[in-house]
Amino acid sequence: MRYLITGNKGQLGSALTERIPAANVVGGDLPEFDITDYTMVRRGIERSNVDIVIHCAAYTNVDNCAKDPALAYQINGLGTKNIAQACAEAGIPMALVSTNEVFDGTKAAPYWEFDQRNPINGYGKSKYSGEYYAEHLLNQFYIIRTSWLYAAGGKNFIHRIQELADERGELSVVTDELGIPTRVADLADGILNLVSTGRYGVYHLVNNYADGEMPSRWDFAKLVLDLSGRTDFPLHKIKLADWKRASTPPPNGVLANTTAKALGIELPNWRDAVEEFVNS
Ligand SMILES: NC(=O)c1ccc[n+]([C@@H]2O[C@H](COP(=O)([O-])OP(=O)(O)OC[C@H]3O[C@@H](n4cnc5c(N)ncnc54)[C@H](OP(=O)(O)O)[C@@H]3O)[C@@H](O)[C@H]2O)c1
Repeated sequence: MRYLITGNKGQLGSALTERIPAANVVGGDLPEFDITDYTMVRRGIERSNVDIVIHCAAYTNVDNCAKDPALAYQINGLGTKNIAQACAEAGIPMALVSTNEVFDGTKAAPYWEFDQRNPINGYGKSKYSGEYYAEHLLNQFYIIRTSWLYAAGGKNFIHRIQELADERGELSVVTDELGIPTRVADLADGILNLVSTGRYGVYHLVNNYADGEMPSRWDFAKLVLDLSGRTDFPLHKIKLADWKRASTPPPNGVLANTTAKALGIELPNWRDAVEEFVNS
């Protein structure tokens, strides 16, 4: 199978690319491949002669998406429309990587793949519009939602907490934003496994967690600090309402993996993944 990976310079795109023999993978990232330019996208997909596009490229800075929702929609919505339309014309499937932020976060339990979407911020709305185009322009597509990604070298929560702990004597982190931290390496393995099945549909791929467990940002930060040898570091508990930022995250962003699990695809436990990552 030959793959085109959009956003191949990003956290997930680069991990996917590393896992595929070089002769079978083509990258599509800025500046030479701009998903907002339909002509460029169509030509890139035609010339690459691939069997599938795994679409990871996105405007991922959620606060900037809140400040400029039109730009977020242009990249995450219309950019995805361009990929979907070009895939339809080439007769190949698209695997769209999406987010837990398509949900409003008011459910008291983990979100299933077919729960009602109702995004509450610019990033979530723009990713929802991308899902809409995948569903309406293609017969053969995967929508793969995930959450709280981290990878070595990427811009992510683990690196940020470690940097801030080095700079400051104390930190405050929210206890009422819930989600599942997901190691990019595990997600990349899961996606390649999933797209090899030909079983199109909507999937949630996050690291595994115990029944009833709903980790918060504070729990995530605490684990990272403990594993980094900072067990006594002053880590204060605050609420989303106390933390002023441009975007409004869904309070509950915990995703349940039911459809991929039915195919035998599950990722390792999130605590084990964070431990291995911090120790390495
Ligand atoms: N990060 C998370 O916690 C998270 C959680 C849930 C879902 N997701 C989804 O997972 C996917 C991968 O996330 P990630 O963390 O790997 O993102 P990332 O590291 O920010 O990588 C995204 C890549 O897309 C590129 N890109 C941006 N605009 C583009 C355009 N117009 N044309 C072509 N490429 C463009 C970016 O280039 P520049 O860097 O130059 O802008 C970057 O290389 C995204 O679809 C994201 O929405 C991420």
